[in-house]
Amino acid sequence: MLKVAVLVSGGGTNLQAIMDAIDNKTIRNAEIAGVISNNAGAYALERARAKGIEARCVSPKQYDNRELFNKALLEETQKLNPDLIVLAGFLVAIPPAMVEAFPYRIINIHPSLIPSFCGKGFYGLKVHEAALARGVKVTGATVHFVDEGTDTGKIILQKPVMVEEGDTPEILQRRVMEQAEWIILPKAIDMIANGELKLG
Ligand code: GRF
Repeated sequence: MLKVAVLVSGGGTNLQAIMDAIDNKTIRNAEIAGVISNNAGAYALERARAKGIEARCVSPKQYDNRELFNKALLEETQKLNPDLIVLAGFLVAIPPAMVEAFPYRIINIHPSLIPSFCGKGFYGLKVHEAALARGVKVTGATVHFVDEGTDTGKIILQKPVMVEEGDTPEILQRRVMEQAEWIILPKAIDMIANGELKLG
């Protein structure tokens, strides 16, 4: 049974997709060991608690400096003894020590087809604003391993989504979530849980 720690910052729709996929067996042989957010007000924490899953906040605001926060985030994550860490809308840079502690054991969902519209400053709606500004006809989402960079790790899965006439960033974000993110993130977890993905 793969033990999964999920790190979140916002609404938690990707977390919800993972929980639903475990319930309906789209994800086999995995369980969520706990959820951690940097944001005490993240609705994702409520989603976890509603399912009886341990959910806690580790916020930079609770620490005197980033180094102490990074140390606490790694310690709290390690307490869950996870086999896999999933960044599901997590907006904080992963400490290098965490990447070293979990080589090819941290995955992230990014709301574009990497290498487009990714890297520093590309998160949430900003990604879709950039895609619309560039005029791409196809966008999508990517699941990738997390390394020391930002959105630079080895790509695991991608799924394309058509941009439609009249799309706003909000409309496009929702379509990318529904048609791509909520499908490929659970799929990647299932592949890892069942030995269908080479971790390296
Ligand atoms: C989504 O756009 C996702 O692609 C990005 O974070 C945003 C919020 O996701 N990674 P969620 O609803 O909190 O899962």
